[in-house]
Amino acid sequence: MSSEMNQNMCLPTVFLNGRLMPFEDAYISPLDRGFIFGDGVYEVIPFYDGMGLRCTEHLQRLQRSLDGLEIANPYTIAEWEAHIGALITANHGGNVGVYIQITRGVAKRDFSPPVGLTQTVFMMANPLATPKPEVYEKGISCVSLDDNRWLRCNIKATALLGAVMLKHAGNQEGADEVMLFRDGYLTESSASNIAAVKDGVILCPPLDNLLLAGITYELMIELARKAGLPLQIRRVSRHEVRAADELWIMSSTKEVVPITMLDGRPVGHGSSAGKPGALFRKMFSLFQEYKHGLKPLGR
Ligand SMILES: Cc1ncc(COP(=O)(O)O)c(C=O)c1O
Repeated sequence: MSSEMNQNMCLPTVFLNGRLMPFEDAYISPLDRGFIFGDGVYEVIPFYDGMGLRCTEHLQRLQRSLDGLEIANPYTIAEWEAHIGALITANHGGNVGVYIQITRGVAKRDFSPPVGLTQTVFMMANPLATPKPEVYEKGISCVSLDDNRWLRCNIKATALLGAVMLKHAGNQEGADEVMLFRDGYLTESSASNIAAVKDGVILCPPLDNLLLAGITYELMIELARKAGLPLQIRRVSRHEVRAADELWIMSSTKEVVPITMLDGRPVGHGSSAGKPGALFRKMFSLFQEYKHGLKPLGR
């Protein structure tokens, strides 16, 4: 593989099954159940100059995803932290998103998951592509689509074809992202959570099996509550989303980004229509403040 291709994919040193190695040396079997069935889970943990944003919470969610698929966790939290730290150091630090994937392992192709397999564990560090300043100024566009993914979206599974096809459909309609609705209620986006604002109140869809419990979503709620911002966790209808004053997406790689166009129409009303709103700006600055107070791994 050319080094240019390598650069575009991830940083040069990766982790596979307990060992750090050059990306070019990392091979897995085509019979890996992750490849054959998407039988695995993943995480993406942001690190800023070696400091993880809610690393423990990400590793706890990884545990919940593994529990959901009945795959044993090969490492303790302390062992994960040591391996992640070594991977980041081997790639010379900086701002990276550590991608972790665990699959059930390698077996003869059979739907029934065999017991006693050895999990395949892969990690890579990708440069963290936090949105450029103009994205925060201008916002992004979304289209509404019916959420036709499976009913266990709370598991961060590697089987992501539903999200891939929805994102593709949104992009084909010329939008940056998709806003998904199940039975007329907001769930999330293809790879981020969504919040709406109406009359100064932040509205967040409740966590259940229909969406991923985003670490950024939970952090934003915590920061909003600490700052005394009015917030309700409740179902948000398609009608309310259309009438919202503000909409944002939130994720580990995007942080918080305003949605300024929905289905070809500006979000919001009057002179602020189509522009990032006041509560977005407040949340953005609360998040940046939080980021600056991060501590190194294990502290
Ligand atoms: C479907 C989905 N929802 C929400 C999120 C946001 O989660 P987090 O804030 O933990 O990155 C992601 C992140 O990948 C996701 O894939």
